[in-house]
Amino acid sequence: MRVPYPMDGLPGRVTVYEVGPRDGLQNEAAVVPVEVKAEFIARLADAGHRVIEATSFVHPKWVPQLADAGELLSGLDRVEGVRYPVLVPNERGLDRALEHGVEEIAIFGSATETFARRNLNRTLDSQFDMFEPVVARALAHGLRVRAYVSMCFGDPWEGQTPIEQVVRVGRRLLDLGCYELSLGDTVGVGTPGHVEALIGAFGGPERLAVHFHDTYGQALANTMAALRAGVTVVDASTGGIGGCPYAESATGNLATEDLVWMLEGLGVQTGLDLDKLVSTSTWLAGRLGRPSPSRVVQALSPKE
Ligand code: HMG
Ligand code: MG
Repeated sequence: MRVPYPMDGLPGRVTVYEVGPRDGLQNEAAVVPVEVKAEFIARLADAGHRVIEATSFVHPKWVPQLADAGELLSGLDRVEGVRYPVLVPNERGLDRALEHGVEEIAIFGSATETFARRNLNRTLDSQFDMFEPVVARALAHGLRVRAYVSMCFGDPWEGQTPIEQVVRVGRRLLDLGCYELSLGDTVGVGTPGHVEALIGAFGGPERLAVHFHDTYGQALANTMAALRAGVTVVDASTGGIGGCPYAESATGNLATEDLVWMLEGLGVQTGLDLDKLVSTSTWLAGRLGRPSPSRVVQALSPKE
């Protein structure tokens, strides 16, 4: 049911920060052709997305699936009013992004020692030495910089992440000059109570976004907890594809369709066209050779 006004205690509008082309396609076993990536992004814009994380300028050997980042951006048919941020870990990545006219980047820190080493080849502390000049130079070039903090709830090697550790890392990332911090549940172990406690420990929702993977089926419930705590930016991936190659237990992101279905039922606006999202995911599933894991896509896709 579509409700015309937001239910009590919820925002009137949520910005969906779409990560499918980056978080989704970085985790595919096969490299997706650049033309398919470009069409995916074009379809997302046509479905109403206004922010689409397009790709990553990480080391091409670390994530070969996105080694075509430059080629993709050069051929991208940019739609006016749509932002196309990219992931950038270091100065080499920033140089590459600037060469391709990028206007917005996202750095990605780790809340835990083990994941900092595995994902960034840095220690928890030395990751900041890598990020600091990236953010300073990006801001000097007039770019917007977002930050992620990964493993906010738990980590496959270290167990539950202490909340004060997440807040410490997250604040340091924000203090570099990032406009927003996205709280990443990289392996999907968070629960709604934990989400509420974490946002509370940051002192409230200001400058916070949420990024849930759905490994334990908690992504929608976690999103609801974040909305009730005042968060209005939610990361999601059309079709529910996604994961991190450096955290094997990570499965897909919260599916954009599942999110939009729930928000429509709560009277929260997104500006997204659910039918177009579902047909995009059905089309993409054909290219990837496997069905979308999203329950809403499965329910709304035409049956053979
Ligand atoms: P490193 O090996 O320590 O790099 O990797 P380095 O700084 O020692 O440099 C070694 C060589 O690599 C140098 O070349 C550099 O130029 C080159 P040489 O001088 O030897 O010829 N190099 C690069 N080349 C191209 N592009 C670059 C680049 N950087 C160095 N950007 C590094 C460190 C950070 C680069 C590496 O660990 C890396 O690329 N990691 C990225 C891993 C990744 O992408 N993971 C997935 C994204 S994170 C995620 O999914 C979580 C998230 O969704 C939130 C959540 O779910 O919680 C965001
Ligand atoms: Mg992720």
